[in-house]
Amino acid sequence: MSERYYGRAPPVKINGHVNAAFPYIRTPLDYILPELLKNAVRATVEAHYDSPTLPPIMVTISTNDVDFIIRISDRGGGIAHDLVDLVTQYHFTTASRAASDSRFDRGLFENIMTDSQARASPMHGFGFGLPTSRAYAEYLNGRLSIESMQGIGTDVYLRLRHIDGKHESFRI
Ligand SMILES: Nc1ncnc2c1ncn2[C@@H]1O[C@H](COP(=O)(O)OP(=O)(O)OP(=O)(O)O)[C@@H](O)[C@H]1O
Ligand SMILES: [Mg+2]
Repeated sequence: MSERYYGRAPPVKINGHVNAAFPYIRTPLDYILPELLKNAVRATVEAHYDSPTLPPIMVTISTNDVDFIIRISDRGGGIAHDLVDLVTQYHFTTASRAASDSRFDRGLFENIMTDSQARASPMHGFGFGLPTSRAYAEYLNGRLSIESMQGIGTDVYLRLRHIDGKHESFRI
């Protein structure tokens, strides 16, 4: 998606407990992780427009008896002080209005995309990725927290509880 939209993509490196294996529900991760990665990719590319290289996005996985944590760290310049409290509100986006208006039908664009329509790729623009991801995490008795290092980048921590029955998890 990044290649299509920006013509390039930062590397993504995964470290920590990369060989961990445990049961979990796939659906929330399938939603949340792409949303967090898209945000990190966008910030990285936009903060390095003039640079020939892009700093990697680091994904760190940690698991323990109680929960597992996935941290996504980018070097996309961070979230400005006055925006930090806004980014988890529904509809807040820094995508330009023209860009987001042209992408209202995501499914349609994904299905019929051609080169000339590549700019309509749904990288960002709805202001839904973070608030929905947080709501999803909290519904599962987890947390989504954002730490911005203004001028450097952003760390997003997704924390979810194991469902192996050893500790309190969640009820649906
Ligand atoms: N890693 C990040 N670095 C810098 N800014 C970020 C980062 N993640 C989110 N943001 C800011 O938070 C805003 C809201 O993010 P959110 O994912 O909720 O919406 P969006 O990316 O604009 O649209 P979409 O609904 O398509 O995800 C973004 O527009 C961007 O300004
Ligand atoms: Mg987003």
